[in-house]
Amino acid sequence: MGLSIQKVNKIYQSGGTEFHALNDINLEIEIGEICVILGPSGSGKSTLLNAIGGIDQVESGSIAINDWNVSSLKNKQLVTFRREMVGFVFQMHNLIPNLTVYENIELAANISEAPLKIDEMIKAVGLEGMADRFPRELSGGQQQRVSIARAIVRKPKLLLCDEPTGSLDSNTSKEILTLIKQVNRNYNTTILIITHNQAISQMADRVIKLKDGRIDSVSVNDTVYEPERIEW
Ligand SMILES: Nc1ncnc2c1ncn2[C@@H]1O[C@H](COP(=O)(O)OP(=O)(O)OP(=O)(O)O)[C@@H](O)[C@H]1O
Ligand SMILES: [Mg+2]
Repeated sequence: MGLSIQKVNKIYQSGGTEFHALNDINLEIEIGEICVILGPSGSGKSTLLNAIGGIDQVESGSIAINDWNVSSLKNKQLVTFRREMVGFVFQMHNLIPNLTVYENIELAANISEAPLKIDEMIKAVGLEGMADRFPRELSGGQQQRVSIARAIVRKPKLLLCDEPTGSLDSNTSKEILTLIKQVNRNYNTTILIITHNQAISQMADRVIKLKDGRIDSVSVNDTVYEPERIEW
C-alpha cells in the first residue's frame, strides 16, 4: 500500500511535435511520508504531481494509491478520487476573490461528506478573526494558509503541494511548512512537496530528484528536521 508508480510516461503533443515530459518513472512512497521533489525547471515535477493527483492523464504505466488505480480511472471516477483522496496547494493560491476566507474553505468542504469544521480549520492555520476577510485583504502567507485549510478540510489522504512557498520569504515559508508538517502529523497525510529550494529537503523523509523527465535519484533521510529548524 501507499503510492506506487510504475513505468509512467507522459508525452505532450504541441505543434506537430512530441515532447516526452516523463520517461519510465518508477517510484514507491509509503503512507504518511513527506516527500520533497527537486529538479530544474522543465524537468517534469508539476507533470508528475498532476498525474498523481488525477488532474492529468499519462500515456502509459500505472499510478496506484492505496486501492485506487489512478491511471486507469475514467472521468467520473477521477472526480471521486480527487474528492476523496487529494488536496492541492499551489504557488498561486487560486482562492476565489469574491468569497471570504470562510466561504473559500466552505466551498471545498461542501463537496465532502464528512468535512472537518471550518472554524477549527481557520484556527488551525492561524487565521482566527479573519474568517470574513477577502483574499485581497490578506498577505501572501495568509492566503497560502487559506489554501492549505481549503485543501485539508476534506481530510485528504494525499496532499500535493506545487511550490507552496515559492513566493514567500524564509520566515513565512517556515511557518507554512510547519503547518504542512502538522497536517502530516495530525492526520497521517502523505505529502508531496515540489520545490526549487534544496533546503526544504531537510524536512523530508524521502527526497526525489528529477532530471529531463527521469528520476535522477531517490534518497531517504536519516535525520528529518522540523521545518522551524531548517537551515535556509
Ligand atoms: N501542455 C503542455 N504542452 C506541451 N508541453 C508541455 C505542457 N506542459 C508542460 N510541458 C513541457 O513539459 C516539460 C515539463 O513541464 P513541468 O511543468 O512538469 O516542469 P516543472 O519541472 O514543473 O518546471 P518548473 O520548475 O518550471 O515548474 C517542460 O519542458 C514543459 O515545457
Ligand atoms: Mg512546475
